[in-house]
Parts: sequence; C-alpha cells; structure tokens
Amino acid sequence: MPEKPEILIVDDQRALREELAYALGYEGYSCQEAANGEECLQAMGAGNISLVLLDIKMPGQDGLQVLAEINKSWPGLPVIMISGHGDIETAVVALKSGAYDFLPKPFDTDRVLVSVKNALAMGSLSSENKALRQELAASHRILGQSSAITEMRKVIERAAPTEAPVLILGENGTGKELVARQTHALSQRCSGPFVPLNCAAIPPELIESELFGHEKGAFTGATGMRRGHFESADGGTLLLDEIGDMALPAQAKLLRALQEKEITRVGGSKSIAVNVRVLAATNQDLKSMVEEKTFREDLYYRLHVIRIEVPALRERREDIEELALHFLLEVCRQNGLERRSLSKDGMGFLRSQPWPGNVRELKNLLEAAAILADAGEIDSAALRDIGSSSSKPSGGDFFALETLEEFRAAMEKEFIRRKLEENSGNIKRTAERISIQRSNLYKKLDRYGLK
Ligand SMILES: Nc1ncnc2c1ncn2[C@@H]1O[C@H](COP(=O)(O)OP(=O)(O)OP(=O)(O)O)[C@@H](O)[C@H]1O
Ligand SMILES: [Mg+2]
Repeated sequence: MPEKPEILIVDDQRALREELAYALGYEGYSCQEAANGEECLQAMGAGNISLVLLDIKMPGQDGLQVLAEINKSWPGLPVIMISGHGDIETAVVALKSGAYDFLPKPFDTDRVLVSVKNALAMGSLSSENKALRQELAASHRILGQSSAITEMRKVIERAAPTEAPVLILGENGTGKELVARQTHALSQRCSGPFVPLNCAAIPPELIESELFGHEKGAFTGATGMRRGHFESADGGTLLLDEIGDMALPAQAKLLRALQEKEITRVGGSKSIAVNVRVLAATNQDLKSMVEEKTFREDLYYRLHVIRIEVPALRERREDIEELALHFLLEVCRQNGLERRSLSKDGMGFLRSQPWPGNVRELKNLLEAAAILADAGEIDSAALRDIGSSSSKPSGGDFFALETLEEFRAAMEKEFIRRKLEENSGNIKRTAERISIQRSNLYKKLDRYGLK
C-alpha cells in the first residue's frame, strides 16, 4: 500500500464529494473527485487509486455499470458504494457483484472511516496476494529463447486462462510438469490448488481410490475415509502425469468423472460435484495406444483438446547455454557454494551432447559438477568425468534419484566405497587419504552399510 492511499470519490453531487473528502482528508487520506462514471474511469487510468467510493445513482453510466468496469480492469481493487434512500436493494446487488461495502446517505462519519480502513486493508492483502502469485509463476518460468520454446510459451499463454484440458507430450525430462505448473499459474484457477498425480507410480488396484478417494471400510486397509486427488484439486488443476500408464478400468471411471464433473468415492454411494481442470502428460505415443486399444479413444479425445508438445533438448541446442548457467547459479545459491562458471570448451561440450534425458539430465550434471568439480572454471574434461562416473555407479543410476540430498548421499557412498577398495579396506588409511576423521568415517560406513 502506498504511504498515503489515494481515494477516488465518485458522485454527481459536489457537496457530497466535498463532505467525504473533508472527513477523509482530516484522517490523513488523500482524495480525488469525479462527477460521473467517465471521469471516474479516466482518473483510475491516470493514477494509483487504492479505493473507490462510488455513488449508485448518477446521470449517464450508473454505479453498477461503473463497478463492472472497475472489476474487469482493476480486479481486486476495493469499491464502496454510496447509496441513497431508494437504492438499498441496488446496493445489495452491488455487494453481490463484488463491491466491498455500501454507505447510506446521509453519512455517519465513523461508519465511513471504519469501512474505508477495512477496505484498504483488504485491498492491500489482495495486491500482496497477486504479487505472490506472480512470484510463483516466475519460479516456474520456462527458460529458453529457441523458436520451439517461444512457440510453446505462446500456446501456454493462450491456453492457460481457458478451462480447456491440455495434453502435454514430450520425452522424459523435457519439462512436462513445468509446463503444467505454468499453465496452472497463468490460469483463472491460480489461487486454487495444483495437484499432480503420477499414474505410473500407483499400483492399478489403488488408482481408483487415489483418484476418487474411498469411504471407511471400502476395502481391507481402508480404516478411514480418504479424499482422492480429484477432491483435493477442487477449484484448481489436476495433473494426471504418465496418463499412458493408467489401466483401462480406471480410464473408464476417469472418463465418467470428466463427463459428469462429479465423482463417487470407492465404496461410497453419493456423487460429489468437483470443479477441476484436468491436464494430462505422457511420454508415450497415446495415438498408437488408441489404435492398439490400450488407451480409450473417447478419453483420448476428451483430454486432447489442446496439445502441447515439449521439444527434446537436442532439437533446441541454442537453449543449452541459458539453461546450464541458470542451473549452475541455482545449485550454488541453494547450497551456499561459491559461484562457479563454465569454460568455453565446457559449454561446447554441453552443446554437443545428445541429452537423452533432456533438461533433467543437463540439470543433474550441472548440480553434480558444481559440487564435485575442482575449483576454477568447470571445463569439458571435468564434465566428461563427472558425467561418466556419476551416471553409472555400481548398482544403479544416480540420475534416477529424486532429490539432491539422495543424490549427494549416493555419491558420497560410492566415493567412500571406492576409496576403501583402493586402500584394501584399511579404514585408518582411507580416512587419512580422504582427509576426514577416522571416527567420522566409521559413522559414514555405518550409515551407508559399508562394513
Ligand atoms: N525450459 C525449462 N526452463 C527451466 N527449467 C526447466 C525447463 N525444462 C525443464 N526444466 C527443469 O528440468 C527438470 C525436469 O522437468 P520436468 O520434471 O518438468 O520434466 P518432465 O517432462 O515432467 O520429466 P519426466 O518425463 O521425467 O516426468 C525440472 O527441474 C524442471 O524445473
Ligand atoms: Mg514429469
């Protein structure tokens, strides 16, 4: 809120405007005046008005019409209606259309002041909220200047504010979930929940209860009622990730939920209305799954109103530099590490790689490099080393791990295992070689089950 909130008083009677301006000015508010709807919208366009006091009965556009315009162009800006004897009913209509309050004439100064104070507090909350939402949208920013990504961003911007289902297609790690989050952040539903559900991670016999919830006693183990993801996403967006992995019986139930906009919990009998926008993502070729009859055609067409194809990283190599620098900066910032940079040949190396794991693979490599590479610029030799050693440890794939914490632990375990091997299992010598206390090494061996 600006230090001195600017209040716009709109009334065709000059004496009335002056009366209000005087009372509010006395309390330290700064006021502007407008004699009709046109002047009101003009003043609003010109300055940073925090609150409007708006007369209902005016020649020309009446208060309700002006209110509608304000709601449209300055959503969230508080408006208090001024009502005369005959128009209390209209004032109530105004409240229903989003006015904050109404003040009957003649004015009771105390009531005016209380209402103005509360409306301003509400208005500043709503603009803070807006700023927070914008910040959130920025944290899901989709980086890249290639024409493929620029095109994709345009489709997202056009599709996001609508209610249309969006099918997001792309290889692993291309940024499908990011696209879904951005679509939600730019939608009318942005203040509602965003709920992702990974259909591939759920055993087929549980998918229905994950989607729709269950009643107490619906099956063995259902010890209480549980809401499903559809209900959790009410008023917001549900992302059905890896939709290609959903079994046919669940597909049928999902289709019904989408058509009827209501669900029934497993083991329940009442229908529950849900207001959910559904986005779906997959790396599978749904169209050929439809032909092979492993994916329902009717469901496919219902999900596939708008289609967004996220391009593979190797098809937009010009984005690699921006992404790489961003990830490097982020990992250093998040871990309190000194800022690292990439050498020219390091960048050349990154640009030339095939990136089968796409952006996620690039991100993981840079995180590992920021932590593991020797001081100074990170060059191609370091990247090659880290890429080949870290992607193929004994027993697993580091890049299949989810969090940086897990990744770091797995790396540390692998490192210690190798050093122990090099020192023929001699703990004292290993501790000396890797410069840590012997007691500390014992603790780590214990933690990683290396003894
Ligand atoms: N264009 C981009 N700009 C910034 N970050 C990106 C971009 N694309 C992907 N990322 C980041 O890369 C990682 C992988 O993206 P995301 O999880 O959205 O991919 P995905 O396609 O859903 O992967 P998967 O198929 O494995 O589920 C995330 O950390 C995401 O923030
Ligand atoms: Mg994903």
